Amino acid sequence: MTIGIIGAMVEEVERYREAMRGERETRHAGIPFYRGELAGRDVVVCKSGVGKVNAAVCTQLLIDRFQVSRIVFTGVAGALHPELEIGDIVVSRDCVQHDVDATALGFQRGEIPFHPKWVFEADPQLVALAERAARRVTEVRVMTGRVLSGDQFVTDRDKARGLHEQFGGLCLEMEGAAVAQVCDMNGVPFVVIRSMSDKADGSAPVDFPAFVKLASRRSCEVVCAMLEEL
Ligand code: ADE
Repeated sequence: MTIGIIGAMVEEVERYREAMRGERETRHAGIPFYRGELAGRDVVVCKSGVGKVNAAVCTQLLIDRFQVSRIVFTGVAGALHPELEIGDIVVSRDCVQHDVDATALGFQRGEIPFHPKWVFEADPQLVALAERAARRVTEVRVMTGRVLSGDQFVTDRDKARGLHEQFGGLCLEMEGAAVAQVCDMNGVPFVVIRSMSDKADGSAPVDFPAFVKLASRRSCEVVCAMLEEL
């Protein structure tokens, strides 16, 4: 059983590479994949790059070339829920692409035209393991719910509030729902684990670079604790 672990940026995967044993690097479609052992498990850690297209390509490569049986997305997000603070953790119950908009054709916002679904549910067992691991290794707030993804870095409080109200999303980022869709299309269980780097408001351009490392580390701690229980 090999577990795929995806992060979008260097900061989101560097801790895994430090902790990994026997790292071997290969590249496919320009994406670096690091195969090795972490917490006694065979893993492939990869740096997908930012955004839904990179995340989708990376996920399909993990499935086809590395035969991973489960996928965990690790990293940071902008908080949407008013009770979430920087550093807090969100575990995905499901994922939606908030930037899909074919409302002019009568579809709901987020609905992918002619695709069987647009709300992609995370694997309940991975969700439960992630929640338990997060509560065991951190003292921050842990919430489970909807993760929103889109090809936009959101820095507007009204837009963030609107997304929270419209979709009920706890946080937003730029990859999770693309990973979720590809996993669903291939029947591979997944979960997204994100620590908050900002609140997707006017302070986000300053908060994101200031907190990306702290939040990335926290997400990594949770995922490593989770691997021990798998
Ligand atoms: N990832 C972290 N913060 C984000 C934001 N504000 N918008 C989109 N993706 C993010």
